[in-house]
Amino acid sequence: MICLLQLILVAAAISTANAGMVNACSDVKDCAKCADSHINIFAFKEHCRWCIDTKSCTGPLVCPASSAYASKDAFKCPTVAPLAKGKRYTTKLGRSLYSLVLASKHDKPEKCIKNSRPDVKISKFANVECDSSKNKCGGLTAVSKEAKALYLIFRGANTLDKQMFTEFIHSIASQFGAWQNFSYGTGVMSYFYTAFQRLFVEELMTDIKSLIKQYPDYRLWITGHGIGGSLASMTALYMTNKTMIPSEKIRLVTFGEPRGSNYLFAKSIEKHIQFRYRVVNRKDLVANTPAILDPEGNMLTNAANEKQPYHYRYAVHYDDNDQDFDICENSEDHKCRNLLGGDIADHFTYFGVKIEDYLKSGCKKDIFV
Ligand SMILES: *[C@@H]1O[C@H](CO)[C@@H](O)[C@H](O)[C@H]1NC(C)=O
Ligand SMILES: *[C@@H]1O[C@H](CO)[C@@H](O)[C@H](O)[C@H]1NC(C)=O
Repeated sequence: MICLLQLILVAAAISTANAGMVNACSDVKDCAKCADSHINIFAFKEHCRWCIDTKSCTGPLVCPASSAYASKDAFKCPTVAPLAKGKRYTTKLGRSLYSLVLASKHDKPEKCIKNSRPDVKISKFANVECDSSKNKCGGLTAVSKEAKALYLIFRGANTLDKQMFTEFIHSIASQFGAWQNFSYGTGVMSYFYTAFQRLFVEELMTDIKSLIKQYPDYRLWITGHGIGGSLASMTALYMTNKTMIPSEKIRLVTFGEPRGSNYLFAKSIEKHIQFRYRVVNRKDLVANTPAILDPEGNMLTNAANEKQPYHYRYAVHYDDNDQDFDICENSEDHKCRNLLGGDIADHFTYFGVKIEDYLKSGCKKDIFV
């Protein structure tokens, strides 16, 4: 009898010490709280689930089979992108930045930029071998006094051959699992880490630091296409971690960025970089590489989930045309963008602009207007 009483007391002590325990999941009315709550069934901790479609908190196993749900981590809850001026994404902004990214792919970036964005002056251009297969990575730093802006632009792959590029992307994806420690204890794929070291740390970092010193009140736009998008988001997080610039000054916008980093990276970038948009054109194959195992991270253990390749918010998705977009409310694109299949052609036609044609035209501004 005493024994049973002791057990009950011990159990009561454990459950009160256990923040997040609720009597019934259905009592919880918001997603963040629901995802952090659990009930105890006998001695077992069972996490509540926030059913995203029905906007309700339920016990385990109760969401409709087709509904995405958030559990175990409030990070999985939907978040709406800012709409305020200066904080939101617009197609005009996307196109303008993308024209700079394309200039970085031109043989003569200065010449291209002179036609498309005459206010922007290149400070340093770098082109280095970024892997053992002698693939080149390029990037540049630039300034616009008119826009009071600094730019860090990452080019991405230098091949426009779709077959070669597809093979290249698959070879990167096959390295999935080789993670490298990165800022704030996050993980990035080794391939991207090496490219980042060679291009940013060794080539562009000194220059951007001196530009920041010279123009301390300017904003810093960081952008890139494909692999360049991964380098851009790594750079944004790295510069914040090293306090090279206040993070409120950073504007991160990428195009067709692959899943080159893990769940902890996605969480960290959402925590540290307020202005961040990841533009995805239709079924761009690169934006879905490497593939994700469990988009909601609910089936995996927490430790395994933290090592999954994972996207950050906000995905800006163009689907029907080149003007209107949706912004996904979840970090991973599940339920917002079709993750099945993928088309490499979509990677090379952001805003309906064929990269090859644009570069051949000498970067005619009217292609973008
Ligand atoms: C990353 O850091 C963790 C501990 O912080 C360590 O256990 C792990 O081996 C490191 N991984 C690499 C690839 O250096
Ligand atoms: C930067 O990241 C490292 C881990 O990679 C961490 O130890 C350090 O505290 C971070 N710096 C800041 C300013 O948070």
